[in-house]
Amino acid sequence: MKEQLRTEKWSVYLKQQDKRLRVITETDLKIKTGEIIGLIGESGCGKSVFWKSVLGLQNPAVWELEGNAWIRGEMVNFQNPEELRSMRGREAAVILQDPMSSFDQVFTIEQHFWETAKAHTNWSRKETAEKAVELLRRLYIREPEQVLQMYPFQCSGGMLQRIMIAIALMMEPAVLIADEPTTSVDVTVQREILSMLKELNQKQQTSILYISHDLRAVESISDYVYVMYAGYVVESFPVSRLKEENVRHPYTQKLLEARPSFTKKRLPVLQGRPPELMERQSGCPFAARCPMADEACKTFDMKKTAISENHMVRCRKQEGLS
Ligand SMILES: Nc1ncnc2c1ncn2[C@@H]1O[C@H](COP(=O)(O)OP(=O)(O)OP(=O)(O)O)[C@@H](O)[C@H]1O
Ligand SMILES: [Mg+2]
Repeated sequence: MKEQLRTEKWSVYLKQQDKRLRVITETDLKIKTGEIIGLIGESGCGKSVFWKSVLGLQNPAVWELEGNAWIRGEMVNFQNPEELRSMRGREAAVILQDPMSSFDQVFTIEQHFWETAKAHTNWSRKETAEKAVELLRRLYIREPEQVLQMYPFQCSGGMLQRIMIAIALMMEPAVLIADEPTTSVDVTVQREILSMLKELNQKQQTSILYISHDLRAVESISDYVYVMYAGYVVESFPVSRLKEENVRHPYTQKLLEARPSFTKKRLPVLQGRPPELMERQSGCPFAARCPMADEACKTFDMKKTAISENHMVRCRKQEGLS
């Protein structure tokens, strides 16, 4: 299978006055064609910084990048702003949960398609409208020609979501990124987005990076899961490991325990919170909240242990157990 996106030892630093704070540490992630990858972790662990940095969307005066990234097998050249800009237009398709925020109320839907096309292609306005109609139809929007003439406020939330995805897909991006905010997750909206993404993936082999703090959602849609904590991918595994309850990192295990289900009423809460950037120290960042941690975890170098060929964990307690 072809790779749509890959990072190797991807680290991201935030430059602040005289300090250089590490936000993401040595992330190895890959998304193959037709795969849905789930990225999960609590607020502030680096999920959004990860994709923004890979797509070169951050200000280089503030953010420093280390490691390598490939999009469709081509190494991204972060030193070349021209190349980055054009790559971003083609490959960065990000959909947000609140579709309203992606639309400008004074422009028609057609104008939204046109703005995107104009910025990244040399298509004519007519050509763009034809592509838009075709995309909207594929996403089951009825009477797409009329919809193009509507204003966002005339469309329902569900329609706007489909339109937002259609605009994102117009550039045939390598990966569709769905970044779910931690706050105000409307369960109905979430479900609708999940089923729409699954459908796109199955019918069109769209590769998707689905980002959430909700393990249930990630489990329901992903083929493979990355768990992030304080900027580290602490564990990555095929989604089946969740059903088998065969996850190894105590953080993943906690997330799994806290996952609501029909049979469990009360949820064990995950005590405490992840460390802020300024509070991060060496050693395992989860040690302070980990029921299994001991002194040596505080100096653990977070190296990877392979549990199996496609299951990786960064936990001292798993070393030598695989
Ligand atoms: N523009 C910024 N300036 C300073 N710090 C930032 C900025 N953006 C992110 N951070 C910090 O980087 C860390 C990672 O943030 P990020 O937004 O990637 O978290 P997240 O996992 O996406 O969280 P959420 O689930 O809340 O969206 C956090 O500590 C955050 O405070
Ligand atoms: Mg985020």
